[in-house]
Amino acid sequence: MIKYWNHPELTALRRMRERFLAGTGGAQDYWRLPEDLALYDSTFGERIGWKWDGVLRELTARDWQPRSRHVLDWGCGSGIAGRRVLAQWPQFESLALHDRSALAMRFAAEKARTDFPNVRITHAAATLPPDTLLVLSHVISELPSRELAQLLDLARQAREIIWVEAGTHVDSRRLIAMREALLGEFAAVAPCTHQHACGLLTGKNAPHWCHHFAAPPSQIFQDARWMDFGREMGIDLRSLPYSFLVLERPRATSPTPDGLSHIIGEPREGKGHLKVLSCHAQGVAELVLQKRDAPELYRALRKGEGPPVHRWLLADGKITGSAEFAPGEGAE
Ligand SMILES: C[S@@+](CC[C@H](N)C(=O)[O-])C[C@H]1O[C@@H](n2cnc3c(N)ncnc32)[C@H](O)[C@@H]1O
Repeated sequence: MIKYWNHPELTALRRMRERFLAGTGGAQDYWRLPEDLALYDSTFGERIGWKWDGVLRELTARDWQPRSRHVLDWGCGSGIAGRRVLAQWPQFESLALHDRSALAMRFAAEKARTDFPNVRITHAAATLPPDTLLVLSHVISELPSRELAQLLDLARQAREIIWVEAGTHVDSRRLIAMREALLGEFAAVAPCTHQHACGLLTGKNAPHWCHHFAAPPSQIFQDARWMDFGREMGIDLRSLPYSFLVLERPRATSPTPDGLSHIIGEPREGKGHLKVLSCHAQGVAELVLQKRDAPELYRALRKGEGPPVHRWLLADGKITGSAEFAPGEGAE
């Protein structure tokens, strides 16, 4: 069988994977060689990039964009998050990078300079320019509580925050704690459709966590190198769960109109029905959608298609339809 990854690459990739799975990344700076960053960037980092694509697609569908002119990618690693943001929104004048690893910052800066020659690439300062979008990606599992508290202090200086994490129960719960700490000073833009306490914090919802699934580009399934990567790492490349949180300084109007719901995770299919874990202002509840009541909607939800937020039509507590959220509905 043809091998697409050589032995040193596989050894380095396995070491990274084991560290992520064991949650031991916080112990010490683990970036040793620029080659490891390049390897990460083209594999695990690229998969994180697809999660960012999912988040940015949702924000576009919800007609939201940041107003800041500066980005800070904190815990930047190879810098995938900052680059995705710069590629999405053209208004940014500068990208500041911060990581405990000088090697990572150098790698991320070089890549960003190549891809975005008109954007000023800097090191993060202790004080943020007031119109800064803070970008955080896959850092929460590496930060002990004292450092997380310091990060919260920094976050309080930002105008907007986009935070993407692995879609695990523990990381999602940590992210929810960040939301609760920052709410008030900030308004929740997404995935939340409301400004109340997170509905997952009730005892009955303790087993659940706020996660979503990104779609990797379909080409990778025809790409022998990606397929080999998945096999060697024991990763199902189709499954890309993530958690995310987008916050902004409160504006005159709420970022999301009233009455909208967001689906958590994937609907669960039963005989002729779907069970949908739905988050809305009144809390988080499992709603049933019977196929016969709304076959088109049923098909779309089963495939993970459709708009990111729904205005459910309900009868006897069951979903009978969804009035699509029209882009622009939430604009000031
Ligand atoms: C899993 S990597 C994620 C990198 C990048 N944000 C991404 O999404 O691909 C976590 C990064 O956080 C950095 N990091 C860990 N603890 C940190 C700390 N206390 N201060 C700054 N950076 C830290 C690591 O060096 C590493 O680059």
